[in-house]
Amino acid sequence: MLYTLGAGIRTLGAEVSSLASVPHLKDKLQSLEEQATEAAAMLRGSLRVLSAPPEQVALGVAVREDTRAFQERTDVTTRMITLTELPSLPASRVRVLSEATREALLNVEKHARAESVVVTVFAVEDGVAVAVADDGVGLPEESSRQAGLGLASISDRLARVGGTLTVSDSDDGGVSVQAWVPR
Ligand SMILES: Nc1ncnc2c1ncn2[C@@H]1O[C@H](COP(=O)(O)OP(=O)(O)O)[C@@H](O)[C@H]1O
Ligand SMILES: [Mg+2]
Repeated sequence: MLYTLGAGIRTLGAEVSSLASVPHLKDKLQSLEEQATEAAAMLRGSLRVLSAPPEQVALGVAVREDTRAFQERTDVTTRMITLTELPSLPASRVRVLSEATREALLNVEKHARAESVVVTVFAVEDGVAVAVADDGVGLPEESSRQAGLGLASISDRLARVGGTLTVSDSDDGGVSVQAWVPR
């Protein structure tokens, strides 16, 4: 149906383009055609997710849920990006990556005074990583830094499954927290 819609709009667009008086209509038709193409691509993506084994979608689903909950309780503009297809991971690793995501987002809420945060999930050659990058105030100076338990505890839990936690400055002047686990 989406294909037929797209093709129909395209044909109409070709007919309309011969009438010089209706450029406005032509633009609208083009935008409709683009939307039909985009809807078809989204549908394909959703069908792929539905047919993938549950372990493979578990991480994406967990991180999306963590991100959604954060978005709902704060005013911070939140985006989640899945950069690559994700390999299936043991449930314990999905759990610790999700815990890391939640702690990083909680820290954005408590400490960052950020306007926006981007959560990225991606496979790397030897594992899977989640990065949480905000555009807030950044980490305090080493001297005035409080020894919190959140990141230390996440780092321990990641280490238990062979993973690591990296905290660095983000490109936007805020903080970037990256949790990695081997696959
Ligand atoms: N996104 C962030 N923006 C600014 N500062 C941060 C951020 N995340 C962590 N911090 C700083 O690092 C400290 C340690 O964080 P954490 O270990 O989670 O402890 P807690 O959240 O309990 O203070 C925080 O107290 C805060 O000063
Ligand atoms: Mg914390």
